[in-house]
Amino acid sequence: MAEKEKPLARYAVMGNPVAHSKSPVIHKQFAHQFGHHLEYTVIETPLDGFTQAVEQFRASGGKGMNITVPFKLEAYKLADHLSDRAKLAGAVNTFWFESDGAIFGDNTDGAGLVHDLTKNLGIHLKDKKILVLGAGGAVRGALSPLLKQHPALLVIANRTISKAKHLAREFVHFGKLEACGFDELTGKHFDVVINGTSASLKGEVPPLPVNLFAKDAIAYDMMYGDKLTPFLEWAELHGVARVADGLGMLVEQAAESYFIWQGVRPETKHVIAALRKGG
Ligand code: ATR
Repeated sequence: MAEKEKPLARYAVMGNPVAHSKSPVIHKQFAHQFGHHLEYTVIETPLDGFTQAVEQFRASGGKGMNITVPFKLEAYKLADHLSDRAKLAGAVNTFWFESDGAIFGDNTDGAGLVHDLTKNLGIHLKDKKILVLGAGGAVRGALSPLLKQHPALLVIANRTISKAKHLAREFVHFGKLEACGFDELTGKHFDVVINGTSASLKGEVPPLPVNLFAKDAIAYDMMYGDKLTPFLEWAELHGVARVADGLGMLVEQAAESYFIWQGVRPETKHVIAALRKGG
């Protein structure tokens, strides 16, 4: 059967709020690269209606889904089978549905971050000193992919120190890992500083010491926006060599999901560039 005659494969992203998600545009551009005909929609999901919405989507012929805030933990619990990286992340952002009805859950966020840092931004993480700010779900998902790059050291700093320490204990077998509060960072220098807190959402910056950045350091914010995030603005003011926001991570996690669903990896550089231009 010719590609065009097949029933349209249906995909969607569920979240709340999710109306402004860039995922449909990204997946449309990926599909265009391969001449795939698929539908990718946004499903604004009631906070108490995630499971029902998934069932509905699957029953209506859905093949796979992305899951975003605040449902990644619920998705983790709902999946019948989990990838190793989803297990480690404790969260799921990608579902695919088997013909027998089983739901497979994966997490492509951490891989998306590492892909953006290493491939798009050309940063070799091996032997680097990495600082990760925050100890929530976003950071948990990033730890094992980052540690697999063999940095010299990875420090997790968080407002609530106990959460950082808890994560460090859990992931200590993956590499050289330490945890501390923001004030304990004084006098230390890092090559890569990744903001995984949600402080930017409130226009805030974690209380960080100045002189945090080593020579040629990069500041990376998992968040993105039309202008520099407050953290990246702060980093520029305090002498960082380079900044990057999380738009590349968004596109790369989408590419990883696309690969799971379609078995082919889309080109991402032009997609990122088009999104930066507002396309
Ligand atoms: P996510 O799943 O997006 O990571 P989360 O689990 O709610 O969201 O975690 C949010 C993270 O941002 C936490 O590390 C939080 O610090 P606490 O653990 O101390 O709550 C951090 N965070 C949020 N607002 C912050 C702020 N204004 N300054 C510093 N850290 C902040």
